[in-house]
Amino acid sequence: MKFLPKLFAATLLLVIGCRDTGSEQAPTPTPLYYAVPDGFPPFFSPDDNPLTKEGVALGRKLFYDPILSGDNTQACADCHRQENAFTDPRAFSIGIDGIAGHRNSMSLINIAWQHRLFWDGRAHGLEDQALFPIKDPIEMHESLPNAVAELQAIPEYTEMFWLAFGTRQVDSTLIAKALAQFERTLNSINSRYDRWRLGLDTLSKSELVGMELFMNNEKGGCAKCHSFGALFSDFLFRNNGKDSIVTDLGRFNISGLPQDIGAVKTPSMRNVEFTAPYMLDGRFSTLEEVLEFYNTGFKLGPNTDPFMFTLQKGRLSEKDKTNIIAFLKALSEPEILTNPAFSKPQ
Ligand code: HEC
Ligand code: HEC
Repeated sequence: MKFLPKLFAATLLLVIGCRDTGSEQAPTPTPLYYAVPDGFPPFFSPDDNPLTKEGVALGRKLFYDPILSGDNTQACADCHRQENAFTDPRAFSIGIDGIAGHRNSMSLINIAWQHRLFWDGRAHGLEDQALFPIKDPIEMHESLPNAVAELQAIPEYTEMFWLAFGTRQVDSTLIAKALAQFERTLNSINSRYDRWRLGLDTLSKSELVGMELFMNNEKGGCAKCHSFGALFSDFLFRNNGKDSIVTDLGRFNISGLPQDIGAVKTPSMRNVEFTAPYMLDGRFSTLEEVLEFYNTGFKLGPNTDPFMFTLQKGRLSEKDKTNIIAFLKALSEPEILTNPAFSKPQ
């Protein structure tokens, strides 16, 4: 049963740093290896964009820099805030022109393990995703040639591109690669629950009962979708019965399949304590509201996930709900909210 024996080896390890000193010879960036604890899927990083110290540093700077937006006022970090586990406390983020989008921002924690990005999975991989918000007319509303030209004019940036990618020629592919590298380091693998699995910490009676309820298909029924693996989601697309009439078609816009009407990516439960408001449209501000939704509030319609039909309304007592919430909070890792490696570079 025990997994994660290598948990404490699971920090970002710096290995071999050899850099050419010759003036114009491309430097060798310093590889970073991410040791993944047992029980987690293998760490994914594409062959043409391996993690390096210099790449992550550049991505981190870009992530916090409003220069990527049309009027230089908005950074990725404005809608993905560290103190909120890299999501936005507003139900709908406001873009640079003061216009709100129509979906809740998503947490970027443990994004390294996800391949279909956005609520509807329309982007494939972080390199593909990174340029969407820059170009998005409601979000950062910037043209890529503009963003490239602005960065190209800043010697500190061209030096960082040189160190990370061996070229001073900025381009959008490299911007995307650097952002993706930084995002792949935003991981949470050391919650109290993880330490409990290792025998290094305890969980309270309430948390343990909550875990049983979470797993039990007749009671909580949560693990059926927010699977009980290390990531607490299988990241598949589902309609959990929020509305009888679907307003956001979700995955259907991409797949065209009727069963995907209103289906969106199932979020992880890790750090959910910090990611309010909840759901695609941020309609719930507390976990208590979410639990009451799953207890009595869900609606069954032709596109609702079949599993929701098996859940009995009113099956959860006040105590049951409190226990499930206690368990969810054991999946929190408050350290990620202040980890200096994730924060705005000086
Ligand atoms: C104006 C607010 C805003 C800004 C700025 C913004 N995002 Fe987002 N981000 C969102 C919203 C909203 C979503 C969900 C959109 C959707 O699913 O259609 C999202 C989704 C994502 C996702 C997908 C996460 C997942 O679980 O699938 C990633 C990755 C991401 N953003 C990274 C970035 C990066 C990198 C930048 C900067 C280049 C950025 N975002 C800038 C609001 C923003
Ligand atoms: C049929 C699959 C399914 C079941 C069962 C299910 N969920 Fe969900 N859950 C989802 C999907 C899909 C979403 C995203 C829906 C959305 O945002 O509109 C979601 C969203 C959530 C969110 C919001 C997360 C966020 O970041 O916005 C929480 C919290 C949550 N579920 C907790 C639970 C709990 C607790 C249970 C058990 C009582 C449960 N879920 C049962 C599929 C399910």
